[in-house]
Amino acid sequence: MGRRLAGLAPGAASAVPLLGVPPLGVPPLGVSPLGVPLLGVSLLALALSLGCGDAAVAHPADCMGLAHEDAMACAEERFWEAHTERYEAREATYDLLGAVIEQVPEGVDDVALGRLHFRRAALGMELMLEHGIDRTANVVPDLEAAIRLDPAEAKYPPWLDSMDLVLGFAFGDEARFDAAVERIDANVARYPVGNVLSITGTMSGFPLETGLPQKAVRMLEGWECTEGWCMRNTERAPYSQPGLEVHFADAYARVGDTAQARAHLEAALVAEDAESWPYRDWVEETLADLDGYVARYTELGEEGSAVPLVYANSDFGCTLCHGAVPPR
Ligand code: HEC
Repeated sequence: MGRRLAGLAPGAASAVPLLGVPPLGVPPLGVSPLGVPLLGVSLLALALSLGCGDAAVAHPADCMGLAHEDAMACAEERFWEAHTERYEAREATYDLLGAVIEQVPEGVDDVALGRLHFRRAALGMELMLEHGIDRTANVVPDLEAAIRLDPAEAKYPPWLDSMDLVLGFAFGDEARFDAAVERIDANVARYPVGNVLSITGTMSGFPLETGLPQKAVRMLEGWECTEGWCMRNTERAPYSQPGLEVHFADAYARVGDTAQARAHLEAALVAEDAESWPYRDWVEETLADLDGYVARYTELGEEGSAVPLVYANSDFGCTLCHGAVPPR
């Protein structure tokens, strides 16, 4: 990276704290045209289809007054509700997870406690990206706690690497950025099927001169779906199939490969459940002016930052795959 990083940093750091992305979209969620009654019905459906309908009913809404294990299971349920559907509850759910984390001492079930820290970090990221609510200061400590409490869990480190890349870049901290770059391969190798996806979206945002957007494409080209969760949509990621195509399309567009970007966007439109996918219109609009979409990237040249442009840092960076209902 060298001096170039410092040169780019002021612009990045002076905008919205982390990514320079204006908080669009999600705040009006609470007044979604779907309205409250529909949301209630679909939440019930979610609880039932997750196969934990009884548990969901048994746990109090705030997860308080429960034994430690139950409180953590309850917080896990609340996380998925807010992550996939009750967008307006995300901020309160972030606090709820914090309240449970404070109550449960280490040593009871450190794998579950680590997971809870990871969940809170995930909510912190989406509050930042999708709601413009800054939880940046706590995301890294939560990811560090998750890794410390459950060092065998290979999914966590690339999330920390992503944060260090973005924060190192935003604040012109070359040492932090370079150290994260150095860790990418080893941490992805621990669980390639998941970790290639966790880090490539972030990598695409940096200037071409870092080599990271090109490397992201190479990593995606070597990616193989070897587990069930990436072969079909799931309760937790109800639109991952069309969303994964967008993930690939954006990585290709970032390096100027319009043909591959088109192929993946077209594949998104015919992927599983794409008919009801809330981002279908976005894909159609993008395809209608794909040259313009790719040009936003190519005109940045070697040195320009696409950190505020890539989908992964956008106000649908998580809901693209995880959102069961439209954001507005
Ligand atoms: C390209 C699609 C896609 C995008 C975008 C995406 N995810 Fe995911 N995510 C998935 C899939 C698929 C799974 C696995 C779902 C399953 O196991 O049923 C998953 C799993 C997860 C998990 C659970 C991991 C575990 O096993 O404990 C969390 C937490 C998560 N995602 C958070 C996020 C956050 C936060 C964002 C936005 C910053 C995001 N995801 C963006 C597809 C996506």
